[in-house]
Amino acid sequence: MRPALPLALVVMVAALVASSVAQESTDLGKRYFMDSGCYGCHTVGKMGTPIGSDLSHVGTKYSRAYLERWLRDPSMQRPSAHMPKLELSEDQVKALSAFLSSLR
Ligand code: HEC
Repeated sequence: MRPALPLALVVMVAALVASSVAQESTDLGKRYFMDSGCYGCHTVGKMGTPIGSDLSHVGTKYSRAYLERWLRDPSMQRPSAHMPKLELSEDQVKALSAFLSSLR
């Protein structure tokens, strides 16, 4: 057997697994967005409340790293921030920023 075929399969399977993991954390982030009350102050598309900014395209505005830092503590990013610091776990921060980055 030529070794190229199994290698191609491994690469394909790895790519599939990686993309489904990415999809999962985006879905999880969406769930946290509802559960953590973000939608009580923000809109995404037609969903949510327009108190804070509309986040429908926030993925084009900030990097994922910036979004993670913002979610850990908004006032560290912008001292004048009105958004409260929310008690989010590191997993929630990661999933939420994955979800926010996907909003383009
Ligand atoms: C009590 C209301 C409130 C809640 C709850 C809230 N935010 Fe905010 N958020 C704001 C306000 C107000 C701003 C505008 C910036 C500021 O703080 O002055 C903002 C800004 C942001 C921004 C930056 C948007 C931009 O365009 O600059 C992001 C991203 C964000 N919020 C995400 C979230 C996420 C994710 C959650 C849930 C974990 C959340 N927010 C919960 C009020 C809120």
